[in-house]
Amino acid sequence: MIRVLFVCLGNICRSPMAEAVFRHLVEEAGLGEHIEVDSAGLGSWHAGERPHQGTRQVLAERGIRHDWLVARQIETSDFSRFDYIVCMDEDNLAGLKRLAPSGQNVCRLLDFAPETGEQNVEDPYYTGRFVHVYQLVEAGCRGLLKKICDDHGLPH
Ligand code: 4NP
Repeated sequence: MIRVLFVCLGNICRSPMAEAVFRHLVEEAGLGEHIEVDSAGLGSWHAGERPHQGTRQVLAERGIRHDWLVARQIETSDFSRFDYIVCMDEDNLAGLKRLAPSGQNVCRLLDFAPETGEQNVEDPYYTGRFVHVYQLVEAGCRGLLKKICDDHGLPH
C-alpha cells in the first residue's frame, strides 16, 4: 500500500479538498487498492470539525465525495506511516521541517503542477477564492498521481 498524506494549516480548507480530489482520481484510475489517502493540519484549532463550507461547496458542485472528512492534527507517527507528505505552501513546509527535520518524504503539492506557475496553494480561509484553489489542487493532484504511478510502476 502506498500512503499519501495531505497537510495544510487548519485541515478544513485545502488539505481536505486535496484528499477528496486525490481519492476521486485514484478511484477513477482503479487504484483504490494500492493507494491510501488522508489529510491533517499543523494546527489543532479545528480538530473534529467538518471541512469549511467553501471546500464542501466546490467539491459538491463537481460531484466529488467528501462525507468522511473530519479535521485532525498531524502526529509524529505520520512521518513514518506515510510515503508522501504533501503540503500546500512554504509555511506548511517550514512547519513540517520543524516537526521532522530529516523528513525526506515532504513536498509541496504544486511541485507536481509546474504548468500552474505557482508554488503555493493560497489559503482560501483568508482569500475566499475556493474555485481558484480547487483548480490548483486538481492540477497538483493529477501531477502527483502521475508521479506516484511512475515511481511504483502502476498503470495510469
Ligand atoms: P487551511 O485553512 O489551512 O487550508 O485549512 C485555514 C483554516 C483555518 C485557519 C487557518 C487556515 N485558522 O487560522 O483557523
